[in-house]
Amino acid sequence: MHRPPSSAPSRRATSGRLRRTLLTAAVAVAAVAGATLPAAAHGGTAGRNAPLRSLAAHDGIYVGSALAAGTLASDSTYSSIAATQFDAVTPENEMKWSSVEPTQGAFDWAPADQIVSFAQDHHMLVRGHNLVWNSQLPTWLTSGSYSSAQLAALLKKHITDEVSHFKGKIYAWDVVNEPFNGDGSYVQDLWYNALGPGYIADALRWAHQADPKAVLYLNDYNIEGQNAKSDAMYALVKQLRAEGVPIGGVGLESHFIAGELPTDIKANMQRFTKLGVNVAVTELDDRVELPATAAELTQQAADYGSVVTDCVQVRGCVGVTAWEFDDGHSWVPGVFAGQGAANLYDASYQAKPAYYAVRSALAAGRRTSSH
Ligand code: XIL
Repeated sequence: MHRPPSSAPSRRATSGRLRRTLLTAAVAVAAVAGATLPAAAHGGTAGRNAPLRSLAAHDGIYVGSALAAGTLASDSTYSSIAATQFDAVTPENEMKWSSVEPTQGAFDWAPADQIVSFAQDHHMLVRGHNLVWNSQLPTWLTSGSYSSAQLAALLKKHITDEVSHFKGKIYAWDVVNEPFNGDGSYVQDLWYNALGPGYIADALRWAHQADPKAVLYLNDYNIEGQNAKSDAMYALVKQLRAEGVPIGGVGLESHFIAGELPTDIKANMQRFTKLGVNVAVTELDDRVELPATAAELTQQAADYGSVVTDCVQVRGCVGVTAWEFDDGHSWVPGVFAGQGAANLYDASYQAKPAYYAVRSALAAGRRTSSH
């Protein structure tokens, strides 16, 4: 019997560790970039130009981005900004089941390994994404006709294979991705239909067995404010905690529309952290109607700043991850017709108002008054 952690790492516990890791990392990056950490840390002249990651480290949180292996390999501007500004990375697609096991039993870890080694080279944390979802599954799995028992065995094997492959290298795993509908009911996907709601606790336990040190998350969108969906996530996390299931965190994806953020994100974060789990903003972007106007980009900057401030001010919010950092590599235009410009940098890698708002929010730390 594995005894799950009696309590999830609080930010007090995590942040000491994060802070040490990140300060070391910041020194390494500062050496490369020619910046001086002490000036940044003391808010001197260099502080105003300090990269996001050194400001975040000072607040005891990380600031991350989703990254793609192909772009890291082919675009040196992209990889240099990624390494300089961010101290955490989430592989955008490379760890999904269809990527790692496109043919049953034939694994392709190379793109995900490439991101992990980039992260190690640049002293970045890695968020593993994701182990259980209803999307981006391999065809051999979705087109096979498996019994419930076979699906349970396949899921256990997948989780064990993948978590074991990366054991010791992953700070946190999104174990189950997007399990709820907007009304708070479970998505009736192949996992739920075959295994019932217990697949979530099973997945967490299997992941914990394979890497007991990774912090295990449930991750979903539209759970950033308090609503039927986040209420369902809250009830589930409470139940899992009561049952001793090794849940360590809740990921708030945060795919926002500029000017339409929920007003109670901070309160919602706090109710989760009171259950003894961490929260993280895992996939932040903030889309506008194209072409973007100056007013939209100003609104977007305010949105980004306020989300970062919320995380900084909530003990137990461990970090904020952008879903790609530039408009040129965002998933948004391909999925939301007519919308885009959702990221911190434009498609020419020029920092946008949102970037400066994030930097100010990180530099202000907990001093910013609540909104
Ligand atoms: C998206 C990627 O950004 C795209 O490149 C891919 O085509 C589809 O998936 N929620 C998630 C992420 O948890 O994995 C999704 O990423 C965006 C929505």
